[in-house]
Amino acid sequence: MFHVVVVRDAQAMYVLALVTQKGGSGKSTLAVGIAVAAMGNGQRVGIVDADPQGTISKWTERRGHPYPRVVRVADPATIEGALVSLEAEGIWLTVIDTAPTNNALAMRAIASADLCLMPVRPSLADIEAAIPTLIAIRRLNRRFAFVLNQTPPRGCRLSEAATSLNSLGVLALPFVGQRNDHQDALGAGLGVTEFSHEGKASEEVRELWRWILRKLVEGASDHEPHARNEKAAW
Ligand SMILES: Nc1ncnc2c1ncn2[C@@H]1O[C@H](COP(=O)(O)OP(=O)(O)O)[C@@H](O)[C@H]1O
Ligand SMILES: [Mg+2]
Repeated sequence: MFHVVVVRDAQAMYVLALVTQKGGSGKSTLAVGIAVAAMGNGQRVGIVDADPQGTISKWTERRGHPYPRVVRVADPATIEGALVSLEAEGIWLTVIDTAPTNNALAMRAIASADLCLMPVRPSLADIEAAIPTLIAIRRLNRRFAFVLNQTPPRGCRLSEAATSLNSLGVLALPFVGQRNDHQDALGAGLGVTEFSHEGKASEEVRELWRWILRKLVEGASDHEPHARNEKAAW
């Protein structure tokens, strides 16, 4: 098989992939929320829309603003090229949104990521449905974290889900509650932190972004066997 090897500068741009074959778990919603939160001080952020449903491509049409820069990718072989272009534009973080299936594109997104974030709703069915993606991430030796999304205010189901996810890997904090602001922000072409700056949803996403950033920075300082330049050849 023919591989184009593209070498990007080590750690010049962070790549976060939202993955899990379970549909409706919140990949696109959190991809947008996190990308906009990461633009906090005017930094340039990119999103690779690797889902044929094009949720984020449609969102950016409603948005009508150049950032986050959204690039649509359909062919797994073109993800690395898209990341190189985004990096050349001075973008410091790219979020990859993937389809609800463990297809070749999602696998390539995982392989390109510094961190894979797996949104999971607090139900046994959702946790079970995430396992094949978790196995793929482990096989590709990528760093990952779960995030509990669409959580109810409290309850034993929530703490059972958190316990299960903690036993499978790292669970990001905070949990992201079920809140209309997420849906309304998406509909308005905004990130939730822009839509309702002081709202609880906004606060949770900002805090989640700070958690993710700490993990990205920690990962960059680790001497992993699977460094960025090797990764590009996958
Ligand atoms: N935290 C949340 N609170 C409320 N609604 C949410 C939340 N996260 C996602 N949703 C809604 O759930 C649905 C599925 O989310 P989506 O991001 O499209 O999932 P995926 O991309 O994983 O298929 C959408 O209607 C979205 O608006
Ligand atoms: Mg989606």
